[in-house]
Amino acid sequence: MIEELASKVRQAARITVMTGAGVSAASGVPTFRGAGGLWRNYSPEQLATPEAFARDPRLVWEWYNWRREVIAKCEPNAAHRVLAAWSRRYPGFTLITQNVDGLHEHAGTDRVLRFHGSIWEVLCWERCSSSPPRWIDRTVPFPVIPPSCPHCGGLIRPGVVWFGEMIDPEVLERSAEATKCDLFLMAGTSAVVYPAAGLFQSARVHGAFTVEINPDETPASGAADLSIRAGAEIVLPEVDARLSSKAP
Ligand code: APR
Repeated sequence: MIEELASKVRQAARITVMTGAGVSAASGVPTFRGAGGLWRNYSPEQLATPEAFARDPRLVWEWYNWRREVIAKCEPNAAHRVLAAWSRRYPGFTLITQNVDGLHEHAGTDRVLRFHGSIWEVLCWERCSSSPPRWIDRTVPFPVIPPSCPHCGGLIRPGVVWFGEMIDPEVLERSAEATKCDLFLMAGTSAVVYPAAGLFQSARVHGAFTVEINPDETPASGAADLSIRAGAEIVLPEVDARLSSKAP
């Protein structure tokens, strides 16, 4: 399986990788749906929505404040490092991530398509006229919850895409374009949240060789051309080692 994936990487003119929370698990970032994925017994679907924020901004911000504190202590792992190396080595490489932790950028990956935004960005909840569309705020932890907008004194919200919200149209368009590839590799995602999970189907329609790296079965496993039941931080360095040993 490792050699098969390595040979597909060697042959591919265009490689698109889509990652989910599983690739950050080895860094210590909790996943959403695996063991330990819940926070105070809430599911992401109950907290990551505009309605939940409108109803209880303090609760939602307690969850994000906690995640920011956890993530701030995390370093990229071998999976992030290999993908960063590939983003520099292969001209036709695109990384799409559902993750908001910023660890791909921290590892040095070029041109990350952030499908769900960034936990390190915030924006004014009222979209006040004196505030920019969004800005980076790395305050960890926020001294006051919920934090307020420095421009209007109202609330700020996390700069992430919540359930029921639109993906940035430019990111969506560039991601759809990137499914026209030779190799589509999904790593660390449960493949249950759309439209991200739909990129896998789109890649198949475009004739890509599709690969999944996940210790668990997912709804995509049966349709993937290659399903590797292991951790991304194990598989990707092994594949990369084969690539280096047989450099073209
Ligand atoms: N390597 C690869 N995969 C792993 C690893 C690992 N070391 N550890 C866990 N996994 C797998 C789990 O088996 C699971 O299938 O990663 C997947 C993580 O799934 P989720 O927690 O559902 O995360 P994700 O797929 O990224 O969620 C999608 O849902 O809550 C929203 O916006 C949030 O972006 C997120 C989206």
